[in-house]
Amino acid sequence: MKSFHITGTCIPEENYMVDTSKKIDTIMQMVEKKECFVINRPRQYGKTTTLFLLLRRLLSNGEYLPIKISFEGYGDAVFRTEESFCPAFLLDMANDFNTQKQGYSSIFLEQKGEVNSFNSLSYAISVILSKIPKKVVLMIDEVDKSSNNELFLHFLGMLRTKYLNAREGVDITFQSVILAGLNDIKSLKQRIRDDSKTQLNSPWNIAVDFEIDMTFKPEEIATMLADYVAETGIQMDIKAISERIYF
Ligand SMILES: Nc1ncnc2c1ncn2[C@@H]1O[C@H](COP(=O)(O)OP(=O)(O)OP(=O)(O)O)[C@@H](O)[C@H]1O
Ligand SMILES: [Mg+2]
Repeated sequence: MKSFHITGTCIPEENYMVDTSKKIDTIMQMVEKKECFVINRPRQYGKTTTLFLLLRRLLSNGEYLPIKISFEGYGDAVFRTEESFCPAFLLDMANDFNTQKQGYSSIFLEQKGEVNSFNSLSYAISVILSKIPKKVVLMIDEVDKSSNNELFLHFLGMLRTKYLNAREGVDITFQSVILAGLNDIKSLKQRIRDDSKTQLNSPWNIAVDFEIDMTFKPEEIATMLADYVAETGIQMDIKAISERIYF
């Protein structure tokens, strides 16, 4: 028997859920087009669940290899310097592979000893991706947890450089980079630019806007209630209740 779930990621087999497969279809098209973007929405908007459903979709399609990590548990010390951030980031990616995609984590760990700067991290990512015969998609949840704007912008700058070089055919990079968090990265850049005139370029200007409506419309909420009715046999006016929940 499924349950309604309001404290964390929803799992389709265990929870009654609003069917968001059309939204995932659209995000898949963005990934196919090698786009980079930020899912920036307020708290409890379904960002983490969306990343989880996208991860499943990518895993079920043999062409892709998704990596899903989060800055949530990193702690301030990790964000202090590139010497602390870069190896932690690489280890986190290796760890994600260890739990979900057996066989590839050793490729990450082989690179670990060398990585202590953004330059060496960038090189390690190229080596790793050259050994994986799939399109690797990087997803990072809770990007606002980065407590060091300057370091985070430097990190985005590294990803941007790789993206531009890969387009020119002189580097290898992720198929797509998807960040999730509360803020639009542009506002973060704005603040930095105000107090430091040297930061003229936006390191994330390769990103496209994320325009998918993440609110659940009454017709979408109805899919969750229809699931509930089918499983429990309890009768209800699905349309009226969907509209009320939406309200
Ligand atoms: N498709 C869905 N159907 C029903 N409930 C959902 C669905 N997606 C998310 N939820 C519920 O909404 C709540 C918020 O989802 P989620 O944790 O994915 O949001 P979030 O944007 O990552 O939140 P936060 O910003 O707090 O991390 C969760 O309790 C989850 O169970
Ligand atoms: Mg979340």
